[in-house]
Amino acid sequence: MTTTAAGQSHPHESAAAQIAGAALYIDDLPEVRGTLYAAPILSKVAHGKLISIDTQAALARPGVRAVLLAADVPGHKMLAAFAGDEPVFAIDTVQYVGQALGVVVADSMAQALHAARLVTAQIEPLPAVLDVRQALAAQSFVLPPVTVRRGDAAQALAHAPHRFQGTLEVGGQEHFYLEGQIAYALPQEQNQWLIHSSTQHPGEVQHWVAHALGLDNHAVRVECRRMGGGFGGKETQAGHLTVWAAVAAHKLQRPVKLRLDRDDDFMLTGKRHPFSYDYQVGFDDTGRLCGLQVQMLAHCGFSADLSGPVADRAIFHADNAYFLQDVEISSYRCKLNTQSHTAFRGFGGPQGMIVTETILGDIARYLKLDPLAVRQRNLYSEEPVDADANVKRNTTHYGMQVEGNILAPLLSKLELSAQYQQRREAILAWNSENSVVKRGIAITPVKFGISFTATLFNQAGALVHVYLDGSISVNHGGTEMGQGLHTKVAQIVADELGVPLHRVRASASDTSKIPNASATAASAGTDLNGRAAQFAARHVRDNLAAFVCGLDGVGAGAVQFAGGQVITPKATRSFEVVVALAYANRIQLWSDGFYRTPKIHYDKTTLTGRPFYYFAYGAACTEVAIDTLTGESRVLKVDILHDVGRSINPALDIGQIEGGFVQGMGWLITEELVWNAQGVLSTHAPSTYKIPTAGDVPEHFKIDLWPEPNTEDNVFGSKAVGEPPFMLAISVFEALRDAVAQARGDGEVVRLTAPATAENVLRALGGD
Ligand code: MTE
Ligand code: MOS
Repeated sequence: MTTTAAGQSHPHESAAAQIAGAALYIDDLPEVRGTLYAAPILSKVAHGKLISIDTQAALARPGVRAVLLAADVPGHKMLAAFAGDEPVFAIDTVQYVGQALGVVVADSMAQALHAARLVTAQIEPLPAVLDVRQALAAQSFVLPPVTVRRGDAAQALAHAPHRFQGTLEVGGQEHFYLEGQIAYALPQEQNQWLIHSSTQHPGEVQHWVAHALGLDNHAVRVECRRMGGGFGGKETQAGHLTVWAAVAAHKLQRPVKLRLDRDDDFMLTGKRHPFSYDYQVGFDDTGRLCGLQVQMLAHCGFSADLSGPVADRAIFHADNAYFLQDVEISSYRCKLNTQSHTAFRGFGGPQGMIVTETILGDIARYLKLDPLAVRQRNLYSEEPVDADANVKRNTTHYGMQVEGNILAPLLSKLELSAQYQQRREAILAWNSENSVVKRGIAITPVKFGISFTATLFNQAGALVHVYLDGSISVNHGGTEMGQGLHTKVAQIVADELGVPLHRVRASASDTSKIPNASATAASAGTDLNGRAAQFAARHVRDNLAAFVCGLDGVGAGAVQFAGGQVITPKATRSFEVVVALAYANRIQLWSDGFYRTPKIHYDKTTLTGRPFYYFAYGAACTEVAIDTLTGESRVLKVDILHDVGRSINPALDIGQIEGGFVQGMGWLITEELVWNAQGVLSTHAPSTYKIPTAGDVPEHFKIDLWPEPNTEDNVFGSKAVGEPPFMLAISVFEALRDAVAQARGDGEVVRLTAPATAENVLRALGGD
């Protein structure tokens, strides 16, 4: 079949409308008459007994219609979150500064926000856990600890030629989606509800709203045309405020909009989990790892949310690209009195990889070897473990074979194309002549597992409708957050039916069209929904093909769909003509499609099996400079070689690689979350929380795509791209540590805390 649409750099389906300001976000939708506005009331205490709430002052304000508290929730007062450990509004206790005690509903957003700040609560303080090591000591956990072992790490450490131990602190990250959290709840007839929610998971929002209102799921329809960014922050966290809006709309029987103010969004919603690590590592003279023990402390916040699967993914990715022979990883899911941390691009993968990458960098400096050589020495490969053993260095610590492994050639190719060796020499020379500014360079790889680790989520549905004019509408269970999912799915459908891309439109995600859809997450949006849509389109094509075969008296399989035409050995007709004829002959012109990922399985109790359908690979070479007097840094040059399989849309894929990498830079350099001694997040606005800007993008930013298709049968031969490039930014951190080591020149281990803010770089340089 000729490819017409897929494999080409078509613009994002909303790009033109977004630039013109004509793409609608929830706050742009025309408001229904009688719409009211809600704003949350936030706890000012990190942990305490909730004695009473005084709403008098708020209710006395002009325009205020109601103040709703836990008692006003008509259905279940606990959210339908999987662990059932979060109240809709605080009941009896408050568990973090920022927790919602209720909402104020008013005639305008400003009135609601203002009045919400006038509600006072009497709270009897209880001891708050605000430090992750304090949480560990107190055995304060949201979920039980998990340990994954292979071989005998203690034994291997004891016999290793070299060993050291260390700690690492890695901060969290605010999602900073440009469109903040927002929901709009509209009462319909007969106690049915239409909900607009900026969510990555409309199905879950539907379920949560129905649960809180005490209704069947069928009474709630959730729609989302697009988000202005989600990054994992709208996977579960969009649900809370949507439930609040729905509870308010239910109580007042009026449409209610709730748009979080940016500061409130920071205070209320969970972020990337900060992690702390303690490790012991043993290695040989060549830098090859012999034994590794890692203890990971995940700062989960006050509730479980997605912390279990996030911490699991950190365990699964502690190997990154490397064979860990004798290894023991223990993971503690610590409960603290803060926001409940959640999904964020990479979903624990970045937190798993970074500890091993820093260890390899340290080993290289300890042995005075090139860090790239040490990394290459440890890569997964087909080499036997021991000279006489059958076991190869290609099985992960959780028992999955690393297939389609391109790590070694990918690293070698990047090493050459980025001129790593020459530049490393040049940097050494440059640093010997410059005393204030020092440079550093690093190449780090990424191997990221694709699939939801919870096997059941790896299913998807789609609908393809062909209309009488031959135009096509596709609907699927995925959501659009800027990543280009709708564009890719439309390309796949256009290809399947052999029509130009402009004939296909993707419509808003809608729980009344595709039920029980999984979150758009784990980078699997296109893999799952693209395949489901391809199957739906194929069913329609099969119907049309059978019909045309009948018309022309040719055998099945003789029909081609290409270039907007339907071609048989007897005749060539336009797609539109065939559609009109088929309709007249009562042929079904629409269909559903369903897909579930094959081959995956895993045992939740031991964390072993094949949780991932395949791995996405990549590597980045990054050069940085630090100012040793101020601690400031700059990313000078980045070269990336990344594996997206056979690209469905190279422009979108490169955009994801650029965006993911820069977001990863933010995590590791400037984005610092600071909670004060009272548990208040003091960095809750762009004035104090620094995301990367256009000026931080490296001037030299070169991205190449690996030229081979996925070795697994994935849609179009492609690979998922949403999250893996985020972790390429670990090369920035390693380059910074290289620069610090060169500046110190004393051979001491570089203790750099992430994010590598100016203060942290100065500390690593040996200052105070
Ligand atoms: N790209 C943009 N522009 N905006 C986003 O919010 N989210 C990321 C990634 N890329 C995001 C993004 C995250 S966390 C994931 S899991 C994937 O997109 C989800 O979409 P996909 O599965 O279609 O790749
Ligand atoms: Mo992405 S963190 O899986 O939403």
